[in-house]
Amino acid sequence: MEELLRMEGISKSFSGVRVLNRVELTVKHGEVHALLGENGAGKSTLIKILGGAYTKDEGTIYIEGNKTEITSVESARNYGIRVIHQELMLIPYMTVAENIFLGQEPKTKRGTVDTEKMNRDTAAFLKEMELDIQPEEQVGRLNIAKQQMVEIARAISFGAKIIVMDEPTSSLTDTEVEVLFKAIRRLKGKGVGIIYISHRMSELDAIADRITVMRDGEYIDTVVTKDTTHDHLVSLMVGRSLGDLYDKHNHSREETVLSVSHLAAGKEVRDVSFELKKGEVLGFSGLVGSGRSETMEALFGLRKKDAGEIFADGKKAQIRNVKDAMNYGIGLVPEDRKKEGIFSVQGIRFNTTIEVLDQFLKGGTYSREKELSLIHTYVDQVMETKYTGIEQPIGRLSGGNQQKVIISRWLLATKKILILDEPTRGIDVKTKADIYHLIDRLTAEGLSVIFISSEMPELINMCDRIVVMNQGRTTGVLSRDEFTQERIMELSTKEL
Ligand SMILES: Nc1ncnc2c1ncn2[C@@H]1O[C@H](COP(=O)(O)OP(=O)(O)OP(=O)(O)O)[C@@H](O)[C@H]1O
Ligand SMILES: [Mg+2]
Repeated sequence: MEELLRMEGISKSFSGVRVLNRVELTVKHGEVHALLGENGAGKSTLIKILGGAYTKDEGTIYIEGNKTEITSVESARNYGIRVIHQELMLIPYMTVAENIFLGQEPKTKRGTVDTEKMNRDTAAFLKEMELDIQPEEQVGRLNIAKQQMVEIARAISFGAKIIVMDEPTSSLTDTEVEVLFKAIRRLKGKGVGIIYISHRMSELDAIADRITVMRDGEYIDTVVTKDTTHDHLVSLMVGRSLGDLYDKHNHSREETVLSVSHLAAGKEVRDVSFELKKGEVLGFSGLVGSGRSETMEALFGLRKKDAGEIFADGKKAQIRNVKDAMNYGIGLVPEDRKKEGIFSVQGIRFNTTIEVLDQFLKGGTYSREKELSLIHTYVDQVMETKYTGIEQPIGRLSGGNQQKVIISRWLLATKKILILDEPTRGIDVKTKADIYHLIDRLTAEGLSVIFISSEMPELINMCDRIVVMNQGRTTGVLSRDEFTQERIMELSTKEL
């Protein structure tokens, strides 16, 4: 295989802090090359340089043996490079077709945008990718998984030579990941080089030919996937080997803290019933669109309920808004943290303590000491977030570190029931292990956890019971000895 891309000795600093130090990366024609590294290792920065979003301080980039000067996103595109960024870049009020063709709209003879052709081509393309999405749909109305597929479809449609995918599967379930992998295999067949960033190690076995590992802005090694092991990769990434990833003991008690009966809320939540025990980790499984996140929104007062009842500690609960939910001790770490959780230009401090101001603002006096100690406990000790100062805007942190701050916020604010919607999405393997330990510790102390995840292994390993949802309905509750991938799939897909 001939060399398609070579990045050599790439360095980059932000305000004097070096985040990339002489990093290397080579990609062959038709190769899927994965980039692996902890949150903040510099993966996104490296590919933003390739994509022309950032300029490098040092280093050289060759494409098919020729030295290039990538100076802007535009010039990167002219070299045939397309980047699907970690943060989606779609325009929410435009349609799927408009987004896919943005900047390259087909024109009619009269010079206006040929919407019909655009919709037709998009429909054909979506069909080829086996996506159940309509060209005329407004992107902002699609769930995040579908938005991600549109973003991917857009990059592929341009006929690029090098496609970079920065955590493309972070909100996809297994079925959708398969659709994406099929598309990637087609691209491989055409000789396209793919740089693939993911924290899901099992995906790398399935799709990556080689893996380059980075740590703290340094190039560590490049290995051939089939000649390596997860343990070896983890030790390259973290600098040492990790113990058991999962840490799970049964802390579930008899006492029911929350009981939901025939809840309905909009067309996504039709008939949901379940019980949550004190100290329990209750998993929620289902396909994208099964209504898991929407159910939690209803519980958390973010979505209007049409029918059904909620009981907290045996008493009927009225949850009309977030404040009510918090008064019942409920906290939610949302799935789409970018949309629902992050105040991007505000600092880490603001983003961490915004929900718990009352804890250090007592009787008109503000205790900075108290606030700092809360931040220190959660952001530093529990989540081990990487940042330079507590007033640093959260938008400047790496994707995974932004999430750690938002998780810290809700850990701090939750008293009884913590709802985690895809909490390990985009989070490196070491922090994943930390989050699992944390869940175990919190439940030991009597907190109850609702855990939504699209990653089957973590659900199976971390939950006491799993509720399966299918088209807005709860279709079954499995106990630990009934957990199998097959049983869960059966309940998530059976005809209703
Ligand atoms: N625009 C910026 N200004 C200042 N610092 C930045 C900027 N962009 C990235 N950084 C810093 O560079 C480092 C590397 O970040 P990067 O986003 O490349 O990490 P990553 O490997 O993609 O991590 P993740 O897995 O969390 O997405 C981080 O410490 C981050 O805070
Ligand atoms: Mg990143």
